[in-house]
Amino acid sequence: MAMMEIKNLSVFYGKARALSDINLSVDKGETIAIVGANGAGKSTLLDSIMGLVKNTGEILFEDQDLTHKKTRFRVQQGLGYAPERFNLFPYLSVRDNLLVGAYTARGEIAKNLAAVYNLFPRLAEREDQETATQSGGERQMVSLGRAMMSSPRILLVDEPTIGLAPKVCLEIANVLRRLSTDLGLTVILAEQNANFALSLAERLYVLEGGKITATGTAKELSKDDTLAKSYFGA
Ligand SMILES: Nc1ncnc2c1ncn2[C@@H]1O[C@H](COP(=O)(O)OP(=O)(O)O)[C@@H](O)[C@H]1O
Ligand SMILES: [Mg+2]
Repeated sequence: MAMMEIKNLSVFYGKARALSDINLSVDKGETIAIVGANGAGKSTLLDSIMGLVKNTGEILFEDQDLTHKKTRFRVQQGLGYAPERFNLFPYLSVRDNLLVGAYTARGEIAKNLAAVYNLFPRLAEREDQETATQSGGERQMVSLGRAMMSSPRILLVDEPTIGLAPKVCLEIANVLRRLSTDLGLTVILAEQNANFALSLAERLYVLEGGKITATGTAKELSKDDTLAKSYFGA
């Protein structure tokens, strides 16, 4: 049985339809990617899984129906989110930004903070630094770390490589791989960078204009030109 299943999910912003009848599933321990160009609807999909935008359809997680549940409840059930624009507090320290992510995890704060510093030694070295003075890569690490502070079992990550140098992208990829292999975390990655997504995800969904137009394993999608078509047109 799938760990998470999304059935016929649609989202409207006013009269504009941003997502149409999305169906997808992710198994426990699996990494999947939602790939698509700018404006395809990737962030809208992750936001709706977190309960941050209104949708029709169903969102099932393990044996629960999360469709009409509040974001806080979804976080308590094990959903973690590293959103596209981070939403860090620029004049709070790295440590305090991480602690913001622990608001539902009272008993596990020290343990989770140690685990985040183990994943990102650079954050431990700079835990008193304001995030306003950090590099883009370091802020991405704080954002991922903050999502880990609530002990998630499924992690939603929105475009973690946007604006980052190739070397930093590799560092982020290594951490996402460790989250999956060492911690057994289930990951839903939204990406414009198809190569980055192919290097991490076991299965991918191609999103174009709010619709899923192709799906398959990394192996299947890398051997035909489906991904290239979705970016450059047929
Ligand atoms: N808050 C909003 N209000 C109105 N339209 C929005 C809003 N957020 C996104 N959109 C529109 O929905 C579509 C999908 O956007 P988005 O989910 O941000 O795509 P992506 O993350 O793939 O770039 C776009 O056409 C975008 O302009
Ligand atoms: Mg986006």
